[in-house]
Amino acid sequence: MNVSLRAPDRAEAGDRAEFRDAVLAGLARSPRAIAPKFLYDARGSELFDAICELPEYYLTRTETGILTGCAAELARLAGPGCALVEFGSGSSVKTRLLLDAMPDLAAYVPIDISRQHLDATAGRLRRDYPLLRVEPVCADYMALEALPVDVNGAPRLGFFPGSTIGNLEPEEATSFLRRARTLLGDRGALVLGVDLKKDPQRLHDAYNDSAGVTAAFTLNLLRRMNRELGATFDLAGFAHDAWYDPVEGRIEIYFRSLWPQTVTVAGRTFTFAEGERVHTEYSYKYDDAGIAALARSAGFTIDRTWTDPARLFAVVYLEAAL
Ligand code: AVJ
Repeated sequence: MNVSLRAPDRAEAGDRAEFRDAVLAGLARSPRAIAPKFLYDARGSELFDAICELPEYYLTRTETGILTGCAAELARLAGPGCALVEFGSGSSVKTRLLLDAMPDLAAYVPIDISRQHLDATAGRLRRDYPLLRVEPVCADYMALEALPVDVNGAPRLGFFPGSTIGNLEPEEATSFLRRARTLLGDRGALVLGVDLKKDPQRLHDAYNDSAGVTAAFTLNLLRRMNRELGATFDLAGFAHDAWYDPVEGRIEIYFRSLWPQTVTVAGRTFTFAEGERVHTEYSYKYDDAGIAALARSAGFTIDRTWTDPARLFAVVYLEAAL
C-alpha cells in the first residue's frame, strides 16, 4: 500500500526502524550493547538536563564556569567574522556564552539530529540575537562530511562541549575529530570540552547520584523499548550499573538483569541470566597527555587549555595543523 506520510511522520518512522534494528542487533551481539544516542528520547533528554543540575555531576557547572572565564580570550583567538559550528547543539545553552563574547560572527550553524530541538532553539536564538545569522543543520554530526550551508568563506570555529567526546571510544574519537578537521578546513579551529581524570570516587559519584536520576536515565531506555518497540522489559527487574575502570580511564554504564528472565522485543525473545548486563555508555576521562595525543592523531594542535582550579574539566582550543 502506498501511504504517503508527512515529512515529520516519515522521519519518525525512519527513527523507529533505526532504533528497532539497533536494539535487535545490539541484544543479539555478545557482549550486548545499545548505542548511547538512543538514550535521548524526549524523556531521556529531560532526565539528562536534570543530571546536569545534580550536586554530584560537576561537569556542566564546571565547564560553564570555565567558558564564562575564557570566552573573551576565545573570541580573540578566533578573530572576527568566523562561522560558529556546533556539533550536537541541543538547546545551545553554553553556546550563548560564546555568542555573547562574539558579536561579529558570520553565522551560527547548530547541527543536531533532533529537528524539534533544532527548530525551537533556532527560533529562540533568532529572537535573542536578532543580528545573528542562524543556519540550523538537521543531521547526525557523527556522519557529516561537509557543511551543507554556505558561510561565504568565513573561517570556521567548531564547538563540541560537554565532554560528549567521552562517549566515543578512542578510535571513534579520532575519526570524528578527523572529520571535524576536514569540515572546519585549514583555517578552522575547534573548542572542545573534556572531562579530566580524577579521584575515582568523585567519578563514581557523578554517575551514581543519590537521587537516582542517572539510574532513571539509563532505565528510561527500557521504557523507550517497551513503548516504541512493544518490548516487555520489567522495569523492576533491571538496575543501573556504572563503574570507573582506572585502567581504561572510563566510566562504563550498563543495565543489569537482577534475576534470570525472558524479554520480548519486536517479536523476538531474549533471555537474560542473573547479573547479565547490556552496555549503554562509556564516558572516557582524559589527562593532558591523552588530550594532546587525541588532538595530534586528528590533525589539530593545542593552542590553549583552560581548566578550573581543581582541574576537574578542561576546555581546549585546537587549531588545524597544516
Ligand atoms: C553527555 C556523554 C557527556 O558521559 O557524562 C551522564 C552522559 N550519562 N550521566 C557523560 C551521561 C550518564 C554524559 N555525556
